[in-house]
Amino acid sequence: MAILELEQIAVGYGRFHVIEDVSLSLHEGEFLSIIGPNGAGKTTLIGAMSGALAPSGGRILFEQKDVTRWAADKRARAGIGRSYQKTHLFPNLTARANVQLAVQARRGVRLRQVLSRVAQEIQAEATEGLRQVGLEGHADLSAAALSHGDKRKLELAMLLALQPKVLLLDEPTAGMSLAEAPAILDLIAGLKASGRYSLVLVEHKLEVVMRLSDRVAVMHQGALLTHGTPAEVMANPEVERAYLGTAHGRANYGQ
Ligand SMILES: Nc1ncnc2c1ncn2[C@@H]1O[C@H](COP(=O)(O)OP(=O)(O)OP(=O)(O)O)[C@@H](O)[C@H]1O
Ligand SMILES: [Mg+2]
Repeated sequence: MAILELEQIAVGYGRFHVIEDVSLSLHEGEFLSIIGPNGAGKTTLIGAMSGALAPSGGRILFEQKDVTRWAADKRARAGIGRSYQKTHLFPNLTARANVQLAVQARRGVRLRQVLSRVAQEIQAEATEGLRQVGLEGHADLSAAALSHGDKRKLELAMLLALQPKVLLLDEPTAGMSLAEAPAILDLIAGLKASGRYSLVLVEHKLEVVMRLSDRVAVMHQGALLTHGTPAEVMANPEVERAYLGTAHGRANYGQ
């Protein structure tokens, strides 16, 4: 069954139309990747799914409810969690405090409760969240002091603390070194294996996409070029054409 459905979505920035007529479903428990050359509209599509961008046409359904007009925070509370292409942390707070804020946001904790027993529960949950991404040893470092790879892990811990049903991951390995990328990819593979999430991954590293995904959607110039199993997409000559001149430039672990 579909957990998230886009029906003929159009999205733009002001009068600048980026995405036209995209229909795409994410099934429960599925791992769907979105690929396409730079500027194809992948991040814009993620923005429409998360509620960061209001579509100018079409409908978005989450668990069969029409959420097209729901703002991002309402969608996040309902279970649509989103990571960003660029890091999004509170740099002066410790790693643990960053995760605590996410736990508090989910639980809707009031200040008075933060001073009580609830505070210990929140702290324990934050510590567990850090352990989940392998950052338990860095809990007391400020987010700013973490390596780029560890910052991305911390963001993932914050995202998971919101207990989302759908995870929207926009280039989680962007800007990572060759040495850093495998750890976060293993984490993402683990999220898939847990069976607790439906995932949408935007990623330029095609070998990763093909290994992890149940289905791959290919964006090109704001439209959905094709979607199918990794094998179907790889065998499609149109996909190769869309990528010519750009895929090789991005087929490394840099930006
Ligand atoms: N804030 C913005 N205002 C105006 N135009 C934008 C904005 N963000 C993106 N665009 C334009 O929308 C189009 C799609 O951009 P988008 O960021 O969705 O592409 P992408 O597929 O995520 O690319 P990349 O692989 O480089 O991340 C591009 O032409 C881009 O220049
Ligand atoms: Mg992008």
